[in-house]
Amino acid sequence: MDVSRIAHLLGARTGDAAARPRAPIGEAVLIRGWVRTRRDSKAGFSFLEVNDGSCLANIQVIAETGLANYQEEILKLSAGASVEVEGTLAESPAKGQTVELRATRVAVFGYSDASYPLQKKAHSFEFLREIAHLRPRTNSLGAVFRIRSTLAQGIHEYFRNKGFQYIHAPIVTGSDAEGAGQMFQVTTLDLDKLPKAEGQIDYKQDFFGKKTHLTVSGQLEAEIFALALGNVYTFGPTFRAENSNTARHLAEFWMIEPEMAFADLAKNAEVAEDFLKSVVKMALERNADDIAFLDERVQKGLKANLEKVVATPFARMTYTEAVAELKKSGQKFEHPVEWGLSLQTEHERWITETLLEKPVIMTDYPKDIAAFYMRLNDDDKTVRAMDVLVPQIGEIIGGSQREERYDVLVERLKARGMNPADYDWYLELRKFGTVPHSGFGLGFERLVLFCTGMANIRDVIPCPRTPKHAEF
Ligand code: 4AD
Ligand code: MG
Repeated sequence: MDVSRIAHLLGARTGDAAARPRAPIGEAVLIRGWVRTRRDSKAGFSFLEVNDGSCLANIQVIAETGLANYQEEILKLSAGASVEVEGTLAESPAKGQTVELRATRVAVFGYSDASYPLQKKAHSFEFLREIAHLRPRTNSLGAVFRIRSTLAQGIHEYFRNKGFQYIHAPIVTGSDAEGAGQMFQVTTLDLDKLPKAEGQIDYKQDFFGKKTHLTVSGQLEAEIFALALGNVYTFGPTFRAENSNTARHLAEFWMIEPEMAFADLAKNAEVAEDFLKSVVKMALERNADDIAFLDERVQKGLKANLEKVVATPFARMTYTEAVAELKKSGQKFEHPVEWGLSLQTEHERWITETLLEKPVIMTDYPKDIAAFYMRLNDDDKTVRAMDVLVPQIGEIIGGSQREERYDVLVERLKARGMNPADYDWYLELRKFGTVPHSGFGLGFERLVLFCTGMANIRDVIPCPRTPKHAEF
């Protein structure tokens, strides 16, 4: 007999099960999963709540005393144990349940015991982080990771439908794509015995014969392919050694980076808005049960907020306008607001949550706080950059039109104290058939935070890497 997923038996609106009809009453089925609770009734049977991770809901299994292994095995089942159950689906008399499973056979894969940390009570997310190997078995984290999966697949689906080619950018790289110097070094040199040449470390003896790092962004390589295939995107892990211990930063996170040839900033913003709305809509439709649960338990109003984001046109605003609004707001901020300074999360959130009450695409940032590759505006003061800011999160997307003029780009690199020779191939793309082009990067975990209403980015990635933490 094929194994059934509980989502299918219950007709749950979760992930891929959403489109399937509920399994019929009276059908013989086989399930496998983990026991959440066992309750014994005096009437001569036990109730097992079993979850297989396919959906939020458990299926209730009725195991009668008459089963061959009832005394020996079934009565030893406790939270965390793994089982296989064969039985028939029956209409459930219990409140709130659609169907239950009348067991004809229960087999045990593995027992659990009283030291299992996930006993039936609510646990804090901080505590669950310490047991990241077990936390996907909780309702909240299960919902988060099902939504994460839907979003990842939905992103590929979106770009495929729009004719974008999927590019794999390298993980190990010799260039600093953001020019911010927040990179993890990759080396096979013996750190206790570094080879020297003329008083400096001799990287010619390192594995790649030069200094290398984990990538902070696949953008530069995406540009290579945009200037050959037209519209492309990357979706891969990126690494940043920034020492920001916040609820929005990870040292290892996933980024989606579309890059489009012949596209200006307006087109870039249009694609970013449509893309974000489309994938949020997929999560709403495909993981309705998970989102309803998170709405009730984690962030009140989550579903309505997401629906509003899908339905509302995003605002457009320049950095200069934003600074003016922040200054006249009368609001007390922790960080100073001054033209030329970076906006902090508190400023971004005030703009999108209080001032506009909707997502906003902010453009034209000062060149001195912008990455070297962003296209210089005619005012010589600002660049064609854009950030998409959303309520609760602040910056979720960062992007720009790229500097396609060879001479201007060389000057920008020099002004940044960067060596143009390190970017020779990147510059050559401007020498041979350069075109206006644009792209952006969506922080995948920030998207998952946004769609789940979770408060801490450490709780939406399987094994979070943050300063002083690389467990699991
Ligand atoms: O704004 P960022 O730094 O832009 C880039 O990396 C460009 N190369 C993208 C491009 O134009 N192709 O990063 C893009 C997004 C941010 O908006 C944020 O959502 C996310 O990546 N991000 C992080 N997410 C988690 N932890 C961190 N430390 C992050 N740093 C950036
Ligand atoms: Mg940014």
